[in-house]
Amino acid sequence: MTIMEIYGEFKPYLTKIRDDVLGKLNALNQKEIANNKTKLYEHLIGRVKTEESMTEKCQRKGFPLSPQGALYDCKDAIGVRIVCNFIDDVYRAIELLKAADWCTVVKEKDYITHSKPNGYRSYHLILKVATSYPAIAEATPGGYFVEVQLRTIAMDSWASLEHEMKYKHTIENSKQIVKELKRCADQLASCDVQMQTIRQLIHENH
Ligand code: GTP
Ligand code: MG
Repeated sequence: MTIMEIYGEFKPYLTKIRDDVLGKLNALNQKEIANNKTKLYEHLIGRVKTEESMTEKCQRKGFPLSPQGALYDCKDAIGVRIVCNFIDDVYRAIELLKAADWCTVVKEKDYITHSKPNGYRSYHLILKVATSYPAIAEATPGGYFVEVQLRTIAMDSWASLEHEMKYKHTIENSKQIVKELKRCADQLASCDVQMQTIRQLIHENH
């Protein structure tokens, strides 16, 4: 197997599963709107990690350069990001995912309550999603892992700027840059809390 074929025979299913999951999430959102609540999320994006970066990741983590390493040891070949207007919506989406019959939560990391030292905030779930496709180390049809990142618009804007800067310039983490980025993250987090409070006040008055 050349390193560019790490997903092997499973490759064609990955974009389908990504789209199936986006469809399920869209359905959840429509249901929330129909139930006369606010929308669940502002927008949604999904991606399949390229075979090139998956190969690099498996090498880095010491996983086999095979579908086993890429789809079973690594659990983020398929990734979805749910970007919400308010912090409450993030937690509402998490509860709906935990209650959904088409997936189970196998891992969760709350970087909202416990932000990373650099200021990164987001809630990460690893889902195991039931599919109608053949899967690695599973009876057919089988389950696939999907990484879900849930965050507010403010957290998302910080993460994308930080990511952009980290990749454009391999910064030799100048103490000042790190400190300023952390300060921005904390200010945005405080805005999220304020916005949540404002929404609460509006709801109480209507
Ligand atoms: P990896 O999946 O190898 O990154 O490690 P992990 O299993 O410890 O994952 P973690 O949950 O910490 O992060 C997974 C993903 O979250 C990353 O691939 C990024 O997309 C995102 N992420 C985590 N930390 C940061 C950060 O400091 N900045 C930004 N912009 N994104 C982050
Ligand atoms: Mg990852």
